[in-house]
Amino acid sequence: MCKESRMLSQKPENILFVCLGNICRSPAAHGVFELKLLSSGMSRVVKVDSAGTGAYHVGDKPDSRMIQAANKRGVDLSYIRARAVEQPDFERFDLILAMDESNLKDLKLNCPDEHQHKIKLFLEFSKTSNLKSVPDPYFGGASGFENVLDIVERGCETLLNEIKSL
Ligand code: 4NP
Repeated sequence: MCKESRMLSQKPENILFVCLGNICRSPAAHGVFELKLLSSGMSRVVKVDSAGTGAYHVGDKPDSRMIQAANKRGVDLSYIRARAVEQPDFERFDLILAMDESNLKDLKLNCPDEHQHKIKLFLEFSKTSNLKSVPDPYFGGASGFENVLDIVERGCETLLNEIKSL
C-alpha cells in the first residue's frame, strides 16, 4: 500500500468501536475485528473494545438479532456487554472509530482537544463503499443486520490490512 493512501500514521494498539447503543453495530465490529486479529496472530498486539454514546443499554448483551446473524458467520458476540463511552476512553484508546456521523459528532463534542485526532469514521476504512455511516439496524428487519455485518466485515478487513502495512 502506498504511503499516501494510508488513513493511519501509527500502528494502533487499542481500538474502540463506537455506536449509539453498543448493542448492534459497534459490538458487531468489536467481535468481527477481534476474530480477524486472532486469526492473523495479532490479538496480543492490538486490543479492541466497543462502547455507546448513549447509556440506554448498559450491561446488556448485544441485540439477539445481531448475535444470531453474527453466529451464522462464525462470529461470537455473546460475551460482549454494552457500556457507555467514558472520559478515560479518550486517553486509553489510540483509535476511536465512530459507526455513523452522529456518533462522530457526539464523540468530538466530548473529547479533549489533545485526543481529537484519534476519532475517525469507521467507514473511512471501507474502500469498496461510498457510505459514510453504517446504517442503524435497530428498528428494522433481519436484512438490516446482515447488511451491517457485510459492511463491517469489509471495513474490518481494510482496517486490518492497513494496520499490517504499518
Ligand atoms: P446501535 O443500535 O447504536 O447500533 O447499538 C441501536 C440500539 C438501540 C437503540 C438505537 C440504536 N435505541 O434507541 O435503544
